[in-house]
Amino acid sequence: MDRTLEPELMDDPEQALIYARADFEQENQGFVDRFREYFPDFSEGHVFDLGCGPGDIPIRFARVFPSCRITGVDASAPMLRLAEDAVQQAGLSGRITFRCERFQDLAGVSVADAAISNSLVHHVRNPLQFWHTLRLVLKPGSPVLVMDLLRPDSPQEAQIIVDRYAAKEPEILRRDFYHSLLAAFTEDEVAAQLAEMNLSRLMVDVPDDRHWVVGGIIH
Ligand SMILES: C[S@@+](CC[C@H](N)C(=O)[O-])C[C@H]1O[C@@H](n2cnc3c(N)ncnc32)[C@H](O)[C@@H]1O
Repeated sequence: MDRTLEPELMDDPEQALIYARADFEQENQGFVDRFREYFPDFSEGHVFDLGCGPGDIPIRFARVFPSCRITGVDASAPMLRLAEDAVQQAGLSGRITFRCERFQDLAGVSVADAAISNSLVHHVRNPLQFWHTLRLVLKPGSPVLVMDLLRPDSPQEAQIIVDRYAAKEPEILRRDFYHSLLAAFTEDEVAAQLAEMNLSRLMVDVPDDRHWVVGGIIH
């Protein structure tokens, strides 16, 4: 099955609110725990979260790494309003800030000590721009962890995954999940992107039936 693009930004207020209210605890905490497992020596510095959405991962990350400050980047204003509220409620405004811009427009070279990104890449028309930005913003020797959905072989399989993991979720969330699966990349495509960007030292892993993970040190 070929990739079917979905809109880049999640900037419909209702869509953002439903996404923010969904229970991603297991996935998001698992993402932060995986970062800690991959990089046991990492403890401090400035971390960029590309496509941070409603801010749940930056908050979890800040709790696990109390010596880090985090910049969340997302070009959806409704998402960032929800993120700002969540960070304020968590009492973490001193360490988590947000930038409302497309990651493609980020200025600044070698400004970050680590980068994380969950569920952004499938939104992007040209994924090479994403890997290029990572290399640009990170200082050499910085850890990076990226996770996203894996494209199934057919629309029918995508529907089976939606029904398996989001049976009781609101219809908007189920619709977005389905379209995200259709827009996602396969493991081979991600590996090819890394090779093209000379990032083959980053490791691609497929931890379950619907995600790929890329992790390693950017040189
Ligand atoms: C599926 S959400 C994931 C949010 C968050 N990372 C999480 O795991 O909960 C993807 C987010 O990426 C944002 N996004 C998509 N394309 C973007 C771009 N080019 N630059 C910045 N943000 C982008 C969307 O607006 C959306 O908030």
